Amino acid sequence: MTVLILPTIQQDSDNSDFTQRRDMMEKATLIIDGKTYELPVVVGSEGEKAIDISNLRRMTGLITLDPGYANTGSCTSSITFMDGEKGILRYRGIPVEQLAEHSSFIETAYLLINGVLPTREQLNEVSVLFNDHSLVHEDMQIFYQNFPRGSHPMGILSAMVNALRSFYPELPAFGEEINITVIRLLSKVRTMAAMSYKISRGHKVVYPRPDLSYCANFLNMMFDTPVKPYPMDKDLVQALNVFWILHADHEQNCSTSAVRLVGSGRVNLYAAISAGIAALWGPLHGGANQAVIEMLSDIQKDGGNFRRAIERAKDKKDAFRLMGFGHRVYKAYDPRAKIMKKMCDKVLAKLNIKDPLLDFAKELEAAALKDDYFIEHNLYPNIDFYSGIVLRAMGIPTNMFTVMFAIGRLPGWIAQWKESIDDPKWKLGRPRQIYTGPKEMQYIPIDER
Ligand code: SDX
Repeated sequence: MTVLILPTIQQDSDNSDFTQRRDMMEKATLIIDGKTYELPVVVGSEGEKAIDISNLRRMTGLITLDPGYANTGSCTSSITFMDGEKGILRYRGIPVEQLAEHSSFIETAYLLINGVLPTREQLNEVSVLFNDHSLVHEDMQIFYQNFPRGSHPMGILSAMVNALRSFYPELPAFGEEINITVIRLLSKVRTMAAMSYKISRGHKVVYPRPDLSYCANFLNMMFDTPVKPYPMDKDLVQALNVFWILHADHEQNCSTSAVRLVGSGRVNLYAAISAGIAALWGPLHGGANQAVIEMLSDIQKDGGNFRRAIERAKDKKDAFRLMGFGHRVYKAYDPRAKIMKKMCDKVLAKLNIKDPLLDFAKELEAAALKDDYFIEHNLYPNIDFYSGIVLRAMGIPTNMFTVMFAIGRLPGWIAQWKESIDDPKWKLGRPRQIYTGPKEMQYIPIDER
């Protein structure tokens, strides 16, 4: 069976050049066993193209196969644009570099979810709503206290976000339900993360304060104590804003795809977000920020021998990977990693901290970027390579690094989920497969086996 996909461009009457006219219908021609099929080609606003195979099985009886979905688009989306070759990342068209420099995390969250930057009045309204909904039900503390000591904060967060539905039953009006759930999630996730940390240390829970901004409130809930008030530092608050802006969304990554897929079953948003948190936990995904620090600490214990780590990463017989390096989309330097790296220097200088792991990270990066293996495989630092250094400097415990990623990604998950439910073509996500197991066989009674 021969299958060919040939991009054919239907020239319109005046034969104008495709790159100038975008109102042409593009089609791909598929030839299977001598039969020709035409498939529509979708062209995105940045010129990205995809063959629309939504009718492929009905037309041809065939499906496509793409383990890991590296060549498969799950949706069209107007939220985030990435160009992996050029290292571009934009939220609703605005470059992440500009948002990191000029915006706040809450303003960026508003942009991602609503598609526009808020007015000052709208931003104030959201801040008031966050204050109104920043507390969690006191009974939730009993849940926290019953997790075994040493439970991973990501497992706790995923469970507790799912539990929010039990504390906040569904409202009859769908629109109102969505709005209040979005506000509750964005506001309470800080309180829940900080509460988890305090209880894990046997410390008194610190409540959110209406006089503090979103990020300052989180730092205060994490580190304020009855004996020593937390010395709020505006530069650290700003660093946390930038940290969360950089994590806010990233197209159809593993955890966002989990949120969309789980949400496609029409389950409540808390459950879909809980699934996203679980997906993010993995060391190949959001768990990499914790794995990077563990890797750098091992290199430190190994006398700073970062070259051994590079050799191990290249050895196909060794399962070791250079954590914080490589990316499914970026085949250039992750633009977020560039900003995070600069932030390391700024935050450590401000706190007058000398972190040897930062020196190892920079030496490791410099050596890897000169190594043929990393050059040939287009492996560059991703967001997770330097983010842990910033979090360490802030005093965030290593096992909470991915929780910090989850708080940052929450607006992106919400925006992507909202876009999926607003899509008139929204349907239950249910991929197909190619079966490779045994052909039909008969049941054999146990005494005859
Ligand atoms: C995040 O998708 C997103 O947008 C994610 C994220 C987001 O914001 O949501 O950006 C956040 O998850 C960042 C990535 C964090 N993970 C890590 O840092 C873990 C280490 N990196 C890798 O495991 C890997 O790079 C992945 C998982 C991130 C991406 O891998 P791919 O795209 O599945 O590519 P692959 O595993 O098929 O690797 C291709 C080749 C292989 O070599 P060959 O068999 O072709 O010879 O590159 C090699 C791999 O062995 N390779 C690495 C490597 N990453 C890829 N070799 C050594 N060290 C690495 N880190």
